[in-house]
Amino acid sequence: MRITFCCTNTQAAPWLAGLRTALPQASIEPWQPGAVSADYAVVWAPPQSFLDEQTQLKCIFNIGAGVDALLKLRLPFKAKVVRLDDAGMSAQMAEYVCHAVIRHFREFDGFAADVAQGIWSFRKPRRRAEFPIGVMGLGVLGERVAKALASFEFPVNGWSRSAKVIEGVRCFTGPEQLDAFLTATRVLVCLLPLTPDTRDIMRLETLARLKPGGYVINVARGAHLVDEDLVTLIDRGHLSGATLDVFRTEPLPQGHPFWHHPKITVTPHTSARTLLDESIAQIAGKIQAMERGEPVAGIVEPGRGY
Ligand SMILES: NC(=O)c1ccc[n+]([C@@H]2O[C@H](COP(=O)([O-])OP(=O)(O)OC[C@H]3O[C@@H](n4cnc5c(N)ncnc54)[C@H](OP(=O)(O)O)[C@@H]3O)[C@@H](O)[C@H]2O)c1
Repeated sequence: MRITFCCTNTQAAPWLAGLRTALPQASIEPWQPGAVSADYAVVWAPPQSFLDEQTQLKCIFNIGAGVDALLKLRLPFKAKVVRLDDAGMSAQMAEYVCHAVIRHFREFDGFAADVAQGIWSFRKPRRRAEFPIGVMGLGVLGERVAKALASFEFPVNGWSRSAKVIEGVRCFTGPEQLDAFLTATRVLVCLLPLTPDTRDIMRLETLARLKPGGYVINVARGAHLVDEDLVTLIDRGHLSGATLDVFRTEPLPQGHPFWHHPKITVTPHTSARTLLDESIAQIAGKIQAMERGEPVAGIVEPGRGY
């Protein structure tokens, strides 16, 4: 069995060592132009020339959960695309989103500003019932995040393409229930995949549906959010702020208004990182399952875009 590795902006050595240990029977090499086609590929942002040459691939493993960039390329005809399916990301995402929600709800930035000036301040406790949270996307990451938020007794709404039943979460489905989901929500968390249906989903009309004092947390993809519309609604006072981990252009360009907006917190695409050991164990396990002819989770449906 041949496995080719083609991940840009990634240190290849630890991946190759880990994959070789997990799959000692396989030949695992970094891709070079002109190399023979392998059976499996492990990729991140590969060039089109890689996919054009690797015509015999049975499966392409993407070392991330989002496949929007990969699906823009022309893929080998027979190859399935498999994305990372949690692999340690859902716990990180739950930490990040709970931290952002609690920091906002408990006004920790306000306390920190007071403390910095030597002020021992008092703020009236806010009511959880007035901070319903809405999680857009109830997949591997969104469901974990929604349950984590529900464990703090926030009212939690969720929105997905197909109907769901999740304990502690009021579930809304499809475009026809988007408006009801948004109007029931004050803190909006985006955990959707980026597809033609979800691009620009957070824009003036949709964000204006959030309850007054709304807050936006985007941890999915930058192109889900129309940047100027967010700033307009914050500056008009309808929204109270945002925590953003992902951006249309990354790194976020110097001079972008998000860098210095007093009500926007920026983090450098760090909410849920690919973890080496967990990802290698998952990919190796899936290759072994495929070789035995067993089904695996996380197969992407190119037609729906995720
Ligand atoms: N910031 C980071 O560090 C980071 C890290 C990892 C992932 N991400 C992003 O997070 C995204 C989600 O990851 P995941 O593993 O949770 O994906 P997933 O398991 O595929 O879940 C996607 C969810 O979105 C829903 N959805 C898709 N299209 C929809 C539409 N048009 N309308 C309503 N709901 C829709 C799906 O509905 P169904 O359940 O009905 O299919 C599903 O619930 C990734 O695609 C990636 O972009 C970001």
